[in-house]
Amino acid sequence: MAHIEPFEVMEIQTLARQVEAQGHDVIHLEIGEPDFRTPQPVIDAAKRALDTHRMYYTSALGLAELREAISGFYRTRYKVEVPASRIIVTAGSSAALLLAFGVLLNEGDEVLLADPGYPCNRHFVRTLGAVPYAIPVGPQTGYQLDTELARRHWGAQTRMAMVASPANPTGTLVPHDEIAGLAALARETGGALLVDEIYHGLTYGVDARTAAECGEDVLVVNSFSKYFQMTGWRLGWLVAPQGLVRDIETLAQNLFISPSAVAQHAALACFAPETIAIVEERRAELDARRRFLVPALESLGLRVPVVPQGAFYVYADCSALTADSFDFARRVLTEAHVAITPGKDFGRHEPERHIRIAYTQPIARLEEAVERMRKFLAQ
Ligand SMILES: Cc1ncc(COP(=O)(O)O)c(C=O)c1O
Repeated sequence: MAHIEPFEVMEIQTLARQVEAQGHDVIHLEIGEPDFRTPQPVIDAAKRALDTHRMYYTSALGLAELREAISGFYRTRYKVEVPASRIIVTAGSSAALLLAFGVLLNEGDEVLLADPGYPCNRHFVRTLGAVPYAIPVGPQTGYQLDTELARRHWGAQTRMAMVASPANPTGTLVPHDEIAGLAALARETGGALLVDEIYHGLTYGVDARTAAECGEDVLVVNSFSKYFQMTGWRLGWLVAPQGLVRDIETLAQNLFISPSAVAQHAALACFAPETIAIVEERRAELDARRRFLVPALESLGLRVPVVPQGAFYVYADCSALTADSFDFARRVLTEAHVAITPGKDFGRHEPERHIRIAYTQPIARLEEAVERMRKFLAQ
């Protein structure tokens, strides 16, 4: 536990609740989930399933129908053949990440990760007695690991590298040729590459290719949380090499028994054209918010070194305005009533000069947030 840190964003949320309890209207731009409801066809499918199915444990690998449906999604969306037998349905991508790390890592093994990055990864690795090896990244590489960086840091203890594309907190993508390069490097060293594609579907002006294209040995994590707006249903999946599936099943049986049955039945409706139409419309809405927010933040004196092309976050450099992003986030919350996340959550590489702003509110609320921050900064 000495290595596991709390989510700073939770501290901000607690403080936000206190500010709200004092009667203030807080604009929440700290949370990593969109403001949209789960698409109606998915809710309807859940209701039908509750009436018609017994909600028993499913296979630890997930419902066969859902694994087939995910395989079909790879075929139609990415034109890639991923057999259902390599797809494991999980309790969110969180469980997929834990299973992937769990079957691959032994005590003392190192995992190369980008700093800044999604904080839970390093904590999963630590929980397993392995060692997260955080590599500082900046705007030069789009805040991502590339093959050259990974090669430079790949050592005798390195067992795997992982990237997220698009990433949290930066919204940047890893170019497909770099994913292919990282996959080749992992292969060459007898290690593994894990790619978190949880923000796939939420890209703007680019269509991300899946890392599943880069070889059967690449592990890919995805989720129903973000693109399909099902955060609270707790459902995701893992694409794994066929040779690892039996071990993953054994571990999943022990750790989770099975993913949520009702969520799996509901998720079958995700790939229906009417659901895709809804989430695609929301993707366009998120893009409009992004286009508003990036220049608006820059007009406040924040710098956005790399314009995000995915997810729903802007990672901004606040060093022209403050030397301490945590204090800044706290003051913006208590004085301007806008909740944002300080860089501290995402690693050790220059957290004091960065904040993350989630555009998970309608444009009118974003406009209001920017104006409140403008007034706060003018004081
Ligand atoms: C990069 C990344 N990976 C994984 C997750 C975990 O999401 P879930 O377990 O809901 O699929 C998150 C959640 O915010 C995330 O940002």
